[in-house]
Amino acid sequence: MGNKKGRSAICIALSAVLAIILLAFGPAAFAEDLLEKSERINDGCLRCHAAQGLNTKFEGETKPTSLYVDQEKYLASMHGTMPCTYCHTNISDYPHTNALTERKAFVAQVNSECRRCHQDITPIYNNSVHGQKNAKTGVQNAYCSDCHGIHNIYKKEVAEATINHNNVPHTCGNCHEEIFEQYDIDFHAKSVLLGGKDAASCVSCHGSHEILGPNEAASMVSPENTPKTCAKCHLFPLENFAKGDMHYKLAPTGDGAVSYWTLILFTWLLIGCIGFVLVCILIELRRKWINAGRPDSH
Ligand code: HEC
Ligand code: HEC
Ligand code: HEC
Ligand code: HEC
Ligand code: HEC
Ligand code: HEC
Ligand code: HEC
Repeated sequence: MGNKKGRSAICIALSAVLAIILLAFGPAAFAEDLLEKSERINDGCLRCHAAQGLNTKFEGETKPTSLYVDQEKYLASMHGTMPCTYCHTNISDYPHTNALTERKAFVAQVNSECRRCHQDITPIYNNSVHGQKNAKTGVQNAYCSDCHGIHNIYKKEVAEATINHNNVPHTCGNCHEEIFEQYDIDFHAKSVLLGGKDAASCVSCHGSHEILGPNEAASMVSPENTPKTCAKCHLFPLENFAKGDMHYKLAPTGDGAVSYWTLILFTWLLIGCIGFVLVCILIELRRKWINAGRPDSH
């Protein structure tokens, strides 16, 4: 009897130890397995695609497209532990028999995979101006990969991320060049582009996936919502504070004329004032010099 009891106690103790070992190392081993598996799968792809200079011509495009994938950046990115084929679903082996050869169709296909996995973002994005098809080109105004990058997608906290607070103006500016130039002379830009974290980037005022033009009622920059948007950072924005144009042009004629000539006037006024003071100081110094040379000077 005593012997049996002793044995079952040992069994229970052993099971407990085994359970603890499994609990401690099981998930880690599983994660490692997945990582290894994805590395193995991607190894095959990267054997060719990590070669700098690999390129091709998509049908209908005369420019060659780079097929090079920066392996280091990819492995460090948010999707670095994922097999390439999660996004490139129609490619499994070489030769790529199911590959899309038309560039527009290819970019559309890959971006539809982003929406499949990130379903919380998809409906918001679909309602935004960038989720709409452009009337002229028939192409999406901006794809996920236009803002996020391709094989270099990171969390926004990462300094190199295209959506990092300090990089966002350049990312949006790739397509909104004129607005970027106008933003560039703004006090917010002076801070943000030098690495400041507090001033407003494009996203602070416009949002990210919900962006709409100023004429839409739901837009963060509609006349009605703009004071609220500024108030995220500026306490008590008087209504007039938010009323002026945010993106102002500088041009000698047309819309930007008032700002342009005001800037010119004040620039020359400043140069004139400093010049005048300098001349006065020189005259004063000259007089002191002459006086100091006189025999009766003390
Ligand atoms: C033996 C070299 C080789 C291997 C291995 C390889 N590729 Fe390719 N890949 C190419 C070449 C060459 C092209 C250009 C034209 C073509 O053949 O489609 C290409 C084109 C592509 C394209 C361009 C778009 C398209 O649809 O044509 C993608 C995406 C791609 N490969 C992904 C992958 C993935 C994912 C893997 C791994 C499952 C992989 N490749 C494995 C050589 C390779
Ligand atoms: C998170 C999704 C995602 C993953 C994972 C991914 N890709 Fe891509 N890939 C894209 C997108 C999006 C594009 C097209 C972007 C564009 O050119 O506009 C692309 C384009 C490409 C191209 C064509 C280059 C070009 O721009 O024409 C190749 C080749 C390619 N990927 C290979 C790979 C390989 C190899 C892997 C794995 C090491 C991989 N991709 C993993 C999203 C992904
Ligand atoms: C197979 C599913 C899948 C596909 C396809 C996919 N993603 Fe992801 N994505 C993930 C997972 C999983 C994470 C990690 C989630 C986490 O840890 O927060 C992630 C992370 C991200 C992040 C960082 C999220 C954060 O918390 O900051 C961004 C941005 C992102 N993905 C954008 C994209 C874009 C753009 C595409 C298409 C080019 C894409 N994803 C395609 C599954 C996917
Ligand atoms: C107009 C540019 C733009 C487009 C287009 C865009 N994003 Fe984003 N995305 C951003 C910015 C900017 C952020 C960071 C938001 C912030 O700073 O709060 C972000 C954040 C994210 C995140 C991190 C989680 C979160 O909600 O903050 C994920 C995941 C993501 N985007 C996926 C996608 C997917 C999937 C698509 C396509 C359906 C897409 N994005 C289209 C600009 C864009
Ligand atoms: C401090 C807030 C703020 C910042 C920062 C900001 N915007 Fe705006 N944006 C606005 C407001 C408000 C409007 C509404 C029209 C106006 O006042 O000019 C607007 C209008 C726009 C429009 C529509 C212009 C038109 O004429 O219809 C675009 C496009 C735009 N912004 C893009 C950007 C981009 C890109 C950036 C970053 C480089 C940016 N904005 C930074 C507040 C901002
Ligand atoms: C791939 C190019 C692309 C990128 C990147 C992009 N946009 Fe746009 N954006 C467009 C296009 C195209 C339109 C629609 C055409 C138009 O009305 O100007 C648009 C429209 C807008 C509008 C509405 C303009 C209006 O007058 O109705 C705003 C605001 C805007 N974008 C802000 C941004 C901001 C902020 C970012 C960065 C987070 C950004 N965009 C990134 C291409 C882009
Ligand atoms: C994300 C926070 C943020 C948002 C949103 C924001 N601002 Fe600012 N703003 C700042 C900061 C920080 C400064 C000081 C910048 C500097 O010069 O370093 C500033 C400076 C200014 C200044 C210069 C005068 C001063 O007070 O220093 C004006 C004018 C201004 N903002 C107007 C606006 C308007 C109008 C809006 C809304 C359309 C807006 N801001 C939205 C953060 C913000």
